[in-house]
Amino acid sequence: MVKKIGVLTSGGDSPGMNAAIRAITRSALYYGLEVYGINNGYRGLIEDDMFLMERSTVSDIMIKGGTILGSARLPEFKDVEVQKLGIANLKKREIEALVVIGGDGTYKGAMALTQLGVNCIGLPGTIDNDIASTDYTIGFDTALNTVIYCVDKLRDTSSSHHRCSVVEVMGNRCGDLAIYSGISCGAEIIITPEAGYDEPSVLEQLRYFEAVKKKRHAIVIISEKITDVETLAAKISKATNFSGRATVLGHIQRGGSPTAFDRVLATRMGDKAVELLLNGIGGHCVGMLNNEIISFPIEEALGLPKKSRRPLYALHERLV
Ligand code: F6P
Repeated sequence: MVKKIGVLTSGGDSPGMNAAIRAITRSALYYGLEVYGINNGYRGLIEDDMFLMERSTVSDIMIKGGTILGSARLPEFKDVEVQKLGIANLKKREIEALVVIGGDGTYKGAMALTQLGVNCIGLPGTIDNDIASTDYTIGFDTALNTVIYCVDKLRDTSSSHHRCSVVEVMGNRCGDLAIYSGISCGAEIIITPEAGYDEPSVLEQLRYFEAVKKKRHAIVIISEKITDVETLAAKISKATNFSGRATVLGHIQRGGSPTAFDRVLATRMGDKAVELLLNGIGGHCVGMLNNEIISFPIEEALGLPKKSRRPLYALHERLV
């Protein structure tokens, strides 16, 4: 049976990663395992930057945003020679298995390491909610609440000044933060990669909201990487009676203390990862489907189709 495991966080950080680290550590210690924390994602693995964790190492971290282990993006980790460097560092300490927390890039690393003989389990840690093998990723709910908090404030000032606020949210080509926040804030227009972007139609809709629906303000939520929001706001000022203003929420969405939902999700998933490793399972990722914590082979998970949000778009259409 496995005796020593490692844990790392990789890719963009997300609120709740610490709650997952805590759960993995405490659960592993409960079953008599030793746990090593690996600093700065796969970089720490290849640079041999790891340390033995104790119960107290994870005290009080549940409520903290970010990740106490640090995170990094390491494109070189695709290279099998680089992966072997990491494996050699694990072998030095007789670490036989790993839990990695991150997005789909992180999952690919976990799959490669499992193929090289080190069982790895992936946990979905990203604010983007862009992983098909789970209803929710760790951090999405907190980021969503941060967006809502900001947009509610923008609504106040937009209403006072008869303005249209164009708010850019993150998502890395997944529209979930935009569609969920748009519905939560009663946004007039929601632009996502999935729904597509048609600028003339956006301007036309805004003119309609103003002239026919007598709206005092308008909120446009738009996913990042679609168009330049400053330019769009300027066009709105020109083509409608609203004065356009752009706000890019940026990395503020990645920080903050995790919500109760993210804490519970991360805790359940962390515990499940340890259970899988104890059962000799590797190359799996953990997800939550219909409130049940499950696991999938990573290969299968990465091949799943994107979750359809069509009913949410239809709902927004009916209510706007
Ligand atoms: O994947 C999380 C994420 O925050 C995306 O939403 C965003 O596109 C990207 O990371 C930003 O990356 P970085 O922090 O490296 O600028």
